[in-house]
Amino acid sequence: MNFNIAADRRNTNSIKWSKEAIESICASTAAEPFWVADMDFLPEPHVHEAARVLAGQGIYGYPSYPKDTAAVASWLRTKHGWILPKEDIVFAQGLLHALALSVNLFSEKGARLLVPSPMYRPFRIIPERNGRTLIEHDLGYGDGSFFLDRERFRKDAEEADMIIFCSPQNPSGIVFSESDLEFVLQTAKERDITIISDEIHSDLVHPSAKHLPMGLVNEHVGAKCITLFAPSKTFNIAGEHCAFAVFSDSGMEKAFREAESALWLDEPGITAGELASAAYSRGIEYNKELCRYLGETAEAMKAYLNTACPGMKPVNGNASFVTFIDCSEFYQRIETEVLSHPDRYKGGEGGGILSRFFGVAAGVAMNDGTWFGSQWKDFVRFNYGTSRDRVMKALDRMVKAVKAL
Ligand SMILES: Cc1ncc(COP(=O)(O)O)c(C=O)c1O
Repeated sequence: MNFNIAADRRNTNSIKWSKEAIESICASTAAEPFWVADMDFLPEPHVHEAARVLAGQGIYGYPSYPKDTAAVASWLRTKHGWILPKEDIVFAQGLLHALALSVNLFSEKGARLLVPSPMYRPFRIIPERNGRTLIEHDLGYGDGSFFLDRERFRKDAEEADMIIFCSPQNPSGIVFSESDLEFVLQTAKERDITIISDEIHSDLVHPSAKHLPMGLVNEHVGAKCITLFAPSKTFNIAGEHCAFAVFSDSGMEKAFREAESALWLDEPGITAGELASAAYSRGIEYNKELCRYLGETAEAMKAYLNTACPGMKPVNGNASFVTFIDCSEFYQRIETEVLSHPDRYKGGEGGGILSRFFGVAAGVAMNDGTWFGSQWKDFVRFNYGTSRDRVMKALDRMVKAVKAL
């Protein structure tokens, strides 16, 4: 794979590249997209080949193959050192489906769900749509890093009926240490509440860090724990809607399987099944190269901004292809610029001050920090899952836009 070549995704039904969608968050149809969390690379080559074979056959009827949980089990063992029988791995139609169903099954109406913030917005929407309340737990932030503030976490958890964790954390990029994970699990265990761990970004941890699945750490803690993961970010096949769940408790697993079956949601579509199977069984080399490339891009971004514009700071994270960039040093100036030129920054109601400024003034479309919680207005989330050349050119335009203020 040559990750220096990004696919041309214009006119491909990609939401990230849709001009109307881009405009809705940054007030400019011309901005280049660095927002929605999928990458601009072609997918893992075996996955692409599986899709080509499928298309070549032209047969899209009911598939006969079983869900390939053996390939998933083998991936978990090789990639994360988690040894599990394939029978313990439960298919789901996407990670958010598994999360929403788990919330419904394992918490009561009105339950209080603790979610660390900044948070991926669906973690706010799922409790809302399902009649639960949110306890928004702000992660600690200092010296350019987000971190788990254990004392405050324990205190907030005293009110909680369930915890929704994101590990590694989107958008802060935290890869949690074993002792942090143990602490979180222990807190859940003491209160006898369920913890759901969304690990969709776990396969893309940079070589500088190591991810530990919550379910693996829980083997010696014994909390009620659901670990969710998916091939979608890992292999850049997010449109397929396929995820997997592992339960610490056979009763929970049974309840989940029964609910999926009752709702007729327990079978993957033909492409999801084929692509996930090809990816998990043959994607390890691609994954290694990709993690290395993403880690190097993150380093290059930091080094460049540190020299060109030290006030624009990507936070210290070690995972995936999205990062929060701290713009607090010049937020006030940007706000004054945007508010005093309403015509120039018109539109972009789905974004905020920073995303509109960078969309219009730099041609860079990003999620505004407020998408992750209104208190994060000083940040933007930048998606660097594309060629390094595109990333560096976009940063250069952002720096120039700030310097021109
Ligand atoms: C933390 C997290 N969870 C879940 C999802 C979406 O998962 P799915 O498309 O499988 O529902 C995303 C996508 O950006 C994500 O970042």
